[in-house]
Amino acid sequence: MTLDYARAVELLRAGELVAFPTETVYGLGADAANPAAVAKIFAAKGRPADHPLIVHVAGHDAVGHWAEQVPDVAWELMEAFWPGPLTLILKKQVWVPNAVTGGQNTVGLRVPGHPVALELLRRFAVSAGEHAGIAAPSANRFGRISPTSAAHVQEELGERVPLILDGGPCAVGIESTIVDCSRGEPVVLRPGHIAPVHLEAVLGRCPLVETAHGAPRVSGSLAAHYAPQTPMRLVSSERLLDFINAQRHKGDICGVISHNQPPQAGMPHLWRMLPADPVGYAHDLYAALRDMDHAGISLIAVEALPDNPAWAAVADRLRRAVAGAGPG
Ligand code: TXA
Ligand code: MG
Repeated sequence: MTLDYARAVELLRAGELVAFPTETVYGLGADAANPAAVAKIFAAKGRPADHPLIVHVAGHDAVGHWAEQVPDVAWELMEAFWPGPLTLILKKQVWVPNAVTGGQNTVGLRVPGHPVALELLRRFAVSAGEHAGIAAPSANRFGRISPTSAAHVQEELGERVPLILDGGPCAVGIESTIVDCSRGEPVVLRPGHIAPVHLEAVLGRCPLVETAHGAPRVSGSLAAHYAPQTPMRLVSSERLLDFINAQRHKGDICGVISHNQPPQAGMPHLWRMLPADPVGYAHDLYAALRDMDHAGISLIAVEALPDNPAWAAVADRLRRAVAGAGPG
């Protein structure tokens, strides 16, 4: 793990993979204009090839190179939120490889807000061409928890990735908000740190939020995703203590993730209390799930979140983690 940008650019130019930090989660990057390099991402992750990837670029100037039609609303969102945790889905230019778009006629674009990602993108563009992009999904094996530190990437992918740039822990901690601007009205495909209320402040109206489950246009939209191996259960605040007591009487040690209920002295459980605000909670969630997975416990009990729009993005990740976690 290093900050060797020159080596990173050399690897990308040679069609190899480089993992790098973004402000959301770590990405597993390849030259987005090189289909053979992009194919290595799918192989390393064990990801189905019809899942499209996000193309990361250094700035707004690159957008026209990748996207054919850029509606005014998309420019407004870019102005407001880039560099930052927002991905826009736009009609693609014909040349953009199917390997990147999963064969769709759209492309996902993002200018990430992390200084290491931006430096890498700028240097890559100097070498590979002004508008060059790095295709990168989260740097985890398919269906698993996204990495929020370089050590997590190492744990997920090990030898499969020749270089990991270490930019420290990710500030946001959950994946970018995805807004589809390719079909007229903007539609939120994946909730994130940038919430509908923030989008509304720019758009002047509340964006639509996609809930229907069709083809996996967004792999995060598969019901089971972002999952630890240990079984997980959401338990209401009121029932939490009774629930873990009952587990103890069965002889099971469970892990507890709370935000409201403080840890109880004298209980044998592994207890993590996360911040009681959604931003702090998102920042710590994936690392907490990973720690629980390593602890050899039989069940993770998670205190249910407030039912309130501010918590929607983390609630979405938790629901999927419960659906995808090991049996039991
Ligand atoms: O925060 C993030 O978005 C991180 C960092 C590395 O940028 N990336 C990330 O990538 O979460 P990934 O592949 O794990 O999730 C991105 C999602 C994919 O599930 C993909 O389906 C969706 O973006 N996506 C990409 N291009 C798309 C397109 N043309 N249409 C619909 N969805 C698209
Ligand atoms: Mg992912």
